[in-house]
Amino acid sequence: MSVLNAIGNTPLIEIPSLSKIADAKIMVKCENLNPGGSIKDRAAKSMVLKAMEKGLLKKGMGIIEGTAGNTGIGLAIVGRALGFDVTIVMPNNQAKEKERLIEFFGAKLITVPPCPFADQNHFYHTARRMAEESPQKYWWANQFENLDNHLAHYETTAPEIWQQTDGKIDFFISASGSGGTMGGCTKFFKEKNPQIKTLLVDPEGSGLYHFIKHGEFKAVGSSLTEGIGIMRLVANFKEAKIDDVYSLTDQELVSVAHYVRFHDGITLGSSSALNVALALKVALEEKKKNNPYKTYVTMWCDGGERSLSKLYSEEFLASKNLSSDLAFFENLNK
Ligand SMILES: Cc1ncc(COP(=O)(O)O)c(C=O)c1O
Repeated sequence: MSVLNAIGNTPLIEIPSLSKIADAKIMVKCENLNPGGSIKDRAAKSMVLKAMEKGLLKKGMGIIEGTAGNTGIGLAIVGRALGFDVTIVMPNNQAKEKERLIEFFGAKLITVPPCPFADQNHFYHTARRMAEESPQKYWWANQFENLDNHLAHYETTAPEIWQQTDGKIDFFISASGSGGTMGGCTKFFKEKNPQIKTLLVDPEGSGLYHFIKHGEFKAVGSSLTEGIGIMRLVANFKEAKIDDVYSLTDQELVSVAHYVRFHDGITLGSSSALNVALALKVALEEKKKNNPYKTYVTMWCDGGERSLSKLYSEEFLASKNLSSDLAFFENLNK
């Protein structure tokens, strides 16, 4: 047994306060309990083990990846456990906690200024270029196009949820960063039961909402969320079977995050708060349509402690004109 065996098999828990408001069962899969504290440990483990099996990653080589954070932490853990050095290229505008964690977990960190994807200095291209220039030295994980990412969720996350709910799920909800979670889970659930509704939630500043509604990538605004939102069609996302898409504001996710922290002791990271905010919104819509008591499953992707300087900082929220007061909820039952 190694730390790799501690990845996955996470609990599925209910958020009692929200279930009560919406007359529903609103549940989160506790991916924050993975050794690296996020859902990306599963993708890291799957991509590394499968690359070893395929002979792409050999002893003596290093692992390289461009990532906004959590995949880097996952790869650092899996790399250390299996004896590979890990290099992570990351934009320098992410929460500082994540930069420190990547180094703490044992990866070498290279930060680059944030820039549009088309710019060759983008963190994705920087990692790709380093791998292409030294193919004997690096195996590039490439979480966006490497389908072993979504397989982690097809083979483990979704089957666990299926077992934990006895297959009684009405809605599956998730945001997308690489599309791995959405790709793998929705494929599994639709194969099991096409009646399960699969909903994508997109933050402002991401192009997925517009892409699904109108067939082209276009983004409006920006968001405090990290690790989610895409501006191009990537292989893992292409695997997803999506019934509908919603775009939510930062204020909606901030309100939900602070509400469940206060009422349930559940401290969501920003992408998880977005997930839960959509579960609540749809559950309330269903309740209004006289369709209560459905089961909503979504992801607790990482913990709020990774967002202390953003989602849980009053100073930061004020600078973005966001409010953590719970007034939002006062109108919900009207
Ligand atoms: C905090 C967080 N939530 C959600 C996701 C999205 O997961 P996926 O890459 O499987 O779409 C990520 C991805 O990096 C993440 O870091």
